[in-house]
Amino acid sequence: MEQFKKQPRLPKFAVPKRYDLRLKPDLSACKFTGSVSIDVDVVADTRFIVLNAAELSINTGSVSFSPPNSSKVFEPSKVDLVEEDEILVLDFADTLPLGVGVLAIGFEGTLNEKMKGFYRSVYEHNGEKKNMAVTQFEPADARRCFPCWDEPACKATFKITLDVPSELVALSNMPVIEEKVNGPLKTISYQESPVMSTYLVAIVVGLFDYVEDHTPDGVKVRVYCQVGKANQGKFALEVAVGTLGLYKDYFAVPYPLPKLDMIAIPDFSSGAMENYGLVTYRETLLLFDEQHSAASNKQGVATVVAHELAHQWFGNLVTMEWWTDLWLNEGFATWVSYLATDSLFPEWKIWTQFLDETTNGLTLDGLAESHPIEVEVNHAAEIDEIFDDISYSKGASVIRMLQSYLDILAGNYFSEVCRRRNDGMPKSLASYIKKHAYSNAKTEDLWAALEEGSGEPVTKLMNTWTKQMGYPVVSVKVKDQKLEFEQSQFFSSGSHGDGQWVIPITLCCGSYEKKKSFLLQTKLETQDVKEFSFDSNKSSWIKLNVDQTGFYRVKYDEELAARLRYAIENKLLTGTDRFGILDDSFALCMARQLPLTSLLALMAAYREEHEYTVLSNLISITRKVGRIAADARPDLMDNINQFFINLFQYSAEKLGWDAKQGESHLDAMLRGEILTALAVFGHKETLNEASRRFDAFLNNRNTPLLPPDIRKAAYVAVMQSVTSSNRTGFESLLRVYRETDLSQEKIRILGSLSSSPDPTIVLEVLKFSLSPEVRSQDAIYGLRVSKEGREVAWTWLKDNWDYIEKTFGGFLISRFVSEVVSPFASFEKVKEVEEFFASRETPAIARTLKQSIERVNINANWVKSIQGEKNLGEALQELAYRKY
Ligand code: BES
Ligand code: ZN
Repeated sequence: MEQFKKQPRLPKFAVPKRYDLRLKPDLSACKFTGSVSIDVDVVADTRFIVLNAAELSINTGSVSFSPPNSSKVFEPSKVDLVEEDEILVLDFADTLPLGVGVLAIGFEGTLNEKMKGFYRSVYEHNGEKKNMAVTQFEPADARRCFPCWDEPACKATFKITLDVPSELVALSNMPVIEEKVNGPLKTISYQESPVMSTYLVAIVVGLFDYVEDHTPDGVKVRVYCQVGKANQGKFALEVAVGTLGLYKDYFAVPYPLPKLDMIAIPDFSSGAMENYGLVTYRETLLLFDEQHSAASNKQGVATVVAHELAHQWFGNLVTMEWWTDLWLNEGFATWVSYLATDSLFPEWKIWTQFLDETTNGLTLDGLAESHPIEVEVNHAAEIDEIFDDISYSKGASVIRMLQSYLDILAGNYFSEVCRRRNDGMPKSLASYIKKHAYSNAKTEDLWAALEEGSGEPVTKLMNTWTKQMGYPVVSVKVKDQKLEFEQSQFFSSGSHGDGQWVIPITLCCGSYEKKKSFLLQTKLETQDVKEFSFDSNKSSWIKLNVDQTGFYRVKYDEELAARLRYAIENKLLTGTDRFGILDDSFALCMARQLPLTSLLALMAAYREEHEYTVLSNLISITRKVGRIAADARPDLMDNINQFFINLFQYSAEKLGWDAKQGESHLDAMLRGEILTALAVFGHKETLNEASRRFDAFLNNRNTPLLPPDIRKAAYVAVMQSVTSSNRTGFESLLRVYRETDLSQEKIRILGSLSSSPDPTIVLEVLKFSLSPEVRSQDAIYGLRVSKEGREVAWTWLKDNWDYIEKTFGGFLISRFVSEVVSPFASFEKVKEVEEFFASRETPAIARTLKQSIERVNINANWVKSIQGEKNLGEALQELAYRKY
């Protein structure tokens, strides 16, 4: 018995083959009863059966094992549910016979409020509050619903039967085969599933409407949502049908199930969940309202649907062996979702937007407290935290890097057509999927397939990216008509590590026609670039990491950096390359390898920038620089704000407040972001115009003066002037919040409220976030507070920690830590935070806490270095008043 405790994985002397699961939820009492008969293959001599279970009460009288070919039934002499280890240990008096027997267990549980396991979500119907029953099992919460071998590699088939109130809709992974109404209750049985992992099993019971369509090969696709909102499901339905067709061709395997349901759940902890055949979503990521949703909401829905449907193959059909390979699921689905979105909506330039993924990955992976893509997992509680920017964004980015490298070798370099069609990879991927379908795989299996398909040493290359954390910065210098390349591990803290990578380097010189590529396999390498007739002429710029497909940063010597600035000003570079130069410079500045004055001078070169993704990153950089400067040089803030306002003036004027007839999706998204930034930097005209339009909106929710794309900007602008003595704007926003039943609108408001510069208002917003008026899934949106609200948020977090810890499980809890702690920039705060959490650290927040503290240290050092920049004041004076 003791030998089974504290183990990361279950012993495998008995493994499940088939579950016959019956559940009866009681929606008013918030309880459920269930029974499960599991076909179990006993493969080694044992007296024990050990499986997972948690927060269930097992009706011990009902546990039995019927061995193969025998009429004897084994009753366990002991049944122990060990809550710390979430295991159920059945101890039999005799050794069990080998072969497949049936394990029967009866149990009971609570429909909890924690958005995991089998839980309840609350909705309103005809003005009345009702409960629905929902499951969320990933990563390891199926065990909270029924006893099972709750590991991704323990695949089995599932035959599910539900006893539910007759008037409700009850869905599961597979289609219904029989429904028997018996007065107030009905019994629904579903078709048996193919073999699958427990974390993908799903059940939803409640009242819903739906819209329906079919794929050309007859898969029935439905989008379910709150009664009365079926129209809002149409966009997601269209995307789903389109995407299923694409993936079928891309993976060369048809969608494996007879139906696909997608459903909006009002209380939902993550964004969406890829349950096999029954994908669950937050409302904001599934429903689209023509009248009140923004362009960014539309893009959100499309990419999330594309992501979850990618999992139906990559994740559900072929599943990671263990959570160490979680990135195979998430990194891959993220990458493929861009492929699908690009194909359905080419005008969104989604591959340029992909650079935000790369930036997010690079940002987290620049911390000493990061982790390798392939990460060791020893405890179920550690799994939630690795659903992070390493598994998703770095994972997706290194796949993109590999794809682009293979394309170059195949001679497809810079061929837009081939990049779009993504030649090279699909064949190998299809063979990987076929080979591991209905089974499990590891990272090395994917590399093996790609290696076989391409004939290239993929494993050797990719191991350097997935097995060690971090990434390199490549420093490039001109030396005697040659270029010298040096790699060293990049840390945002400014230190250097000793990691080494096999780096696919690409470069262009003076034009996109003159290009070169090679693998940098050593620390230092010199390359002859005679063929470029590289000379002292300024137009002879050199850009590395062409198109930004590589997962590394580049540091140019001063001469090369000046030439690139010239190339940006003269509009010689693509948007992706402009993005990369800016992003790398910002990272180098934070790491104190580039003075802030140089970064600001570079930013000035982006005044006429027009591309969405580049500007969006410029905005986020100005906001970060603005915050750090406020700590370092409060005396310079007027000039800093003025400089930033100047930077955005050009595009703000071009875009205006009103949408142009037939304008692009990207312009619609950009307008909102630019106006929000101008509001934050205190641009008077923007603030006034926002207030005028907001008043019109208060009088008429459908006013053309405040369409959804600019609402957030107006809300943020309104909150800039809210103080304890002038609360009108705040109260109006709360009124809109309470009135609307569109969750995207609620989130827009929640995300704007804490931008008030008055700490007492921020505190009020934080309290509101924890009130019953905000679903606990949404509390995190109020946490991004103004710089003036930072201190009050920290005090609030400490005061409410016990409650927060009790209420928010999974990865939501770690968001509280990172959002509140990371913005600080002093060593005193580091000490304070460490002291507070010394007695409160748990596995669920351990990693995030360390990362947040590291960020505070990085910020504090950055502040010090900015304070040491003697000519900053002068430089800003010039930038703020420069005439164009
Ligand atoms: N498998 C995840 C859902 C998930 C996340 C389960 C964390 C358990 C813990 C799903 O496929 C997913 O990745 N959802 C994303 C949305 C996606 C578009 C990036 C999410 O929830 O943020
Ligand atoms: Zn996913």
